[in-house]
Amino acid sequence: MTQPEYWFHRPESDEDIEQLYELMNIVFKGEDVDKIVKMLLDHYPESNRRHLLAVKHGDETVAGLIIIPQTWVLDGFDLRVAEMGCVATHPDHRRKRLQHILNEKFDEQVKKEGLDLCALAGVPFFYRQFGYEYTVELDHSTRLPLSNIPDYPKAEAVPFSENDIPAAKVIFEASQGKYPIHEKRTLDVWRAHRKTGLYYGGPVETVSLFKDNILIAYLKYSCSQKEKTITLKEAAVASPAAVESALAYLKDYGKRKGLEKLVSGLGYLDEISMRLAELGGEQSHPYAWQVKILDYLELFRKLTPLLESRLRESKFSGLSETLNFNFRKFNIVVTFKDGVVESTELGYDNSDRTIGLNPTVFPQLLLGYRSREELEYVYPDFKIQETHKELTDVLFPKRAGYIHFVY
Ligand SMILES: CC(C)(COP(=O)(O)OP(=O)(O)OC[C@H]1O[C@@H](n2cnc3c(N)ncnc32)[C@H](O)[C@@H]1OP(=O)(O)O)[C@@H](O)C(=O)NCCC(=O)NCCS
Repeated sequence: MTQPEYWFHRPESDEDIEQLYELMNIVFKGEDVDKIVKMLLDHYPESNRRHLLAVKHGDETVAGLIIIPQTWVLDGFDLRVAEMGCVATHPDHRRKRLQHILNEKFDEQVKKEGLDLCALAGVPFFYRQFGYEYTVELDHSTRLPLSNIPDYPKAEAVPFSENDIPAAKVIFEASQGKYPIHEKRTLDVWRAHRKTGLYYGGPVETVSLFKDNILIAYLKYSCSQKEKTITLKEAAVASPAAVESALAYLKDYGKRKGLEKLVSGLGYLDEISMRLAELGGEQSHPYAWQVKILDYLELFRKLTPLLESRLRESKFSGLSETLNFNFRKFNIVVTFKDGVVESTELGYDNSDRTIGLNPTVFPQLLLGYRSREELEYVYPDFKIQETHKELTDVLFPKRAGYIHFVY
């Protein structure tokens, strides 16, 4: 009997979607990844069935993923990002290059939709073969026994409601101010999180803390009886005093449930994680998002206002010069006149080595994850001449980044 063929497929019908959920449950046993896909299709306004990519073997769905469009903000400047999520191949069909097929289709669709960056929060090393590089910190974790938290005064705590969203959004956005690279969360996403009670696939409880009828914090958390932990998935506080109210709530709740440890998944610059660290909390070295740029020319053209504003605020304001960003395989030539970009072009003459860049790790510079100096130290093919080091630092400064999941 002849073996069925592998073929690229776009899941459209309810039956296709059910097959995809089944695949997710086989590949990510017990991790509720089917729920993530379902949440994205049913509630996330930027994803729909058009964002599902799959490979079939005969009639059976054996590999799949989902494109999750979103917006990241870089120093106030919006970048459209395509996250690759829920990447799965059935164990019986691995190492047949099925994810290579899906990766190619992913890139095609991302280009067609005009998104600026590809990103994923995925397993180590696998995605390097597709050109991804570690770029924005991910999975911060601060751990402290609940008994190490002092008995701070409590605030009024009630379940998070739809009415709390506008005030919560304000304090969340203020907390993002510590990270010049962060995601833009729309009201629709707030509503989807509240309605589903899910965050990153798993059920979470969300509580609002009030003082004098004003929202001073919200906390999104889950508990594990097995590990005796309460994990804070997301939170924002309105003031340093609200940090204490938040910790008082978490300690009290955790103790009532018989838990022993608090794990904060908030960024290390968030007030709550900083306070936990002061109290002796352990922090681990973070993982990172993996990022790829598909179209350098389009991206540089889009970055024009950002580059101009960074120049304007520096000693290079009013710059008139043609900068040749030499990416070795190609170059991007940006001509500034009086601090304004006159043209941005693609070329293939790499004889000018004033600003020599390694294209694979360039996302690290672009998103401020590593400084020009750090990259020059690590990569001999990242080499900028003395005359242009400072200017490169102005155009691409190091920045703190933390991105929350949109699902
Ligand atoms: C990771 C996974 C998606 C790969 O799917 P796949 O269809 O086997 O991938 P492909 O056949 O297209 O590519 C396989 C290649 O990647 C390599 N590879 C597999 N896992 C790797 C890893 N973690 N790091 C580096 N390379 C890896 C294989 O050795 C193979 O290389 P080769 O072609 O040179 O032999 C699949 O193993 C899987 O579903 N794993 C469990 C779920 C998971 O971890 N998903 C990713 C979550 S982000």
